[in-house]
Amino acid sequence: MPYCLFSVFSVLINLITGSLGNLTTPAAPGWGDMHIKHAWKAVPIEWESLGAPPVGTTIDFRIALKPNNEDVVIDALHNVSNPRHPKYGAHLSKDQVSKLLAPHPGTLELVRSWLEHHGVLSSFSVTQSGNWLKLIGLPLSQADNLLGASFQLYRHIDTNDTILRTLSYALPDVLHTHVQTITPTTYFGPPRTQRQAPRMRPGGVTEAQAKPESKELARVTSIGDDGSDGDGGDDDDDDDDVAPSYMRWLYNTLGYEPKAADRNALGIVGFNGDYPSPQDLELFMEEFRTDGEDAFFTVLQINGGEYDSAEPGIESSLSIQYAEAMSYPTRNTFYSVGGNWDDALMNWLHYVVDLEDIPQTLSTTYGIDEVKVPLDYATTACTLFARLGLRGVSVLYSSGDDGVGDGDCLVKDSSGNHRVQFIPLFPASCPWLTVVGGTTSHTPEIAASISGGGFSNIFPRPDYQDFAVPFYLYIIGNRYNGFYSTEGRGYPDIAAQAFHCGIIVDGEFMHKDGTSCATPTVAGIVALLNDYRLSKGKTPLGFLNYWLYDPDSGLRGLNDITSGSNPGCGTDGFPAIIGWDPVTGLGSLDFSKLEDLLDDLD
Ligand SMILES: *[C@@H]1O[C@H](CO)[C@@H](O)[C@H](O)[C@H]1NC(C)=O
Ligand SMILES: *[C@@H]1O[C@H](CO)[C@@H](O)[C@H](O)[C@H]1NC(C)=O
Repeated sequence: MPYCLFSVFSVLINLITGSLGNLTTPAAPGWGDMHIKHAWKAVPIEWESLGAPPVGTTIDFRIALKPNNEDVVIDALHNVSNPRHPKYGAHLSKDQVSKLLAPHPGTLELVRSWLEHHGVLSSFSVTQSGNWLKLIGLPLSQADNLLGASFQLYRHIDTNDTILRTLSYALPDVLHTHVQTITPTTYFGPPRTQRQAPRMRPGGVTEAQAKPESKELARVTSIGDDGSDGDGGDDDDDDDDVAPSYMRWLYNTLGYEPKAADRNALGIVGFNGDYPSPQDLELFMEEFRTDGEDAFFTVLQINGGEYDSAEPGIESSLSIQYAEAMSYPTRNTFYSVGGNWDDALMNWLHYVVDLEDIPQTLSTTYGIDEVKVPLDYATTACTLFARLGLRGVSVLYSSGDDGVGDGDCLVKDSSGNHRVQFIPLFPASCPWLTVVGGTTSHTPEIAASISGGGFSNIFPRPDYQDFAVPFYLYIIGNRYNGFYSTEGRGYPDIAAQAFHCGIIVDGEFMHKDGTSCATPTVAGIVALLNDYRLSKGKTPLGFLNYWLYDPDSGLRGLNDITSGSNPGCGTDGFPAIIGWDPVTGLGSLDFSKLEDLLDDLD
């Protein structure tokens, strides 16, 4: 009956125009109805206000739009990363990801009208991928007005780093469901010199400082080619010295010859002012990887990142030296990323997701307390990491060097009582990364006491942890009740040696501790696994965790680490046990076993 048909149509039309009506005809009164997007109660610790910046100061913003269907990203990531799914390995191209993440068709129009209303439409541009917008050169008074903000200059009390931030920002009510985040706004980040740096051994003095020709170096290389200690294993400290030959022996990569070095790449990310020196790498390889003396890395300077080979930093030297020594002859690229850390992270993420070809493996070692990161910022950055997984990139991140947290970790609850709260780190708490904790010793390997680990307070437990994490929580019972979120993403995922790693910085040999040593080591091993896949004409591994947590697949190629713990916050920290734990994750990698397991994967 036509009548019925028409009424169905008109309902449909009402539904469509009703929902789009909200978007395409922004009612003028809507713009004044501002609601807070994010606010701090006080100036973040370690920062102080310097008041208003000089007249004429302008600011550039990035606006992240929400994808039309937020769940689809994670759904697609699951499909291409889970060995049990028929789409395993079917990674997406840049354009396919952009389509997947496209905002609602009405979103852009709505944002335009808002900017037009404020007379700033001319500063505006849409980035290639369509779900990020840029606003360039906005006078601060206009920025304040647009975002209900009060931008000021803030100085870090130790480093004097000065940044332009606001303690809160707001958006018109109608925009909240369309905008993910705007940066830079309320995220202060760590100052540029504060890294999640390799720490010196307790006692505070590096073990050896000598030119590479000296016998201290020879001592480290006395670890035999089979990795055994040259001197028969007395309890001397030297037994703990870590060098590439030891890593290669312990993680079983010695017998592998890369075959896809022309197609395979490993990227190392360093933030503001930390970069390695090619001369140090040359010395390092001459000493520790004699078959790889011609190793080199390419430097890419992103967002004004600095590079001066005469002023190498420890963090990045550690990264490049272990990554190269593990992955040689895989091509290594070093990204020197400029800007304050939060801008730097976003800028780097945008840089890589916009590449047509991204290195198959990426390694990064910087982090900050999750509680210092605004929720909107953290979720946006985490989605960008998921996006890298969709593209077929394996991203390795360090878990931190403070166990469950530095200091007493006391927070005041609503009734004014103090209680302990462990301190999870971001981005380690993001579920769409593979996070690397620390171990020490061998036969058996045990947890390194510094190994960062715990549970996110903002990211829920991802599905790949559905079995591993509840089992752990069951075993530890109510120990540390209330100190952490039992619903959160647990990290790390895997681990590697993190104590007493020998490196060369500015011609000086030294030892450093930190998951910053474990992470590039694992990245190097993953690069070799990717090499193996590529040499067989297969796709790279991409996001690793579905594979690693699968008891019939990757998990069988890991060495479970079952003793040690990660003290912090005035507690003994979490114990390492059989199975996954928030100290060493699932364990360390056995390259040879993993390589065999890859034969079963398409
Ligand atoms: C993921 O796979 C499921 C089937 O297992 C399918 O229904 C869904 O559409 C897929 N999602 C994406 C985004 O490819
Ligand atoms: C920061 O500035 C103060 C005062 O100008 C100065 O005394 C201090 O040395 C500076 N600190 C650094 C790390 O540059």
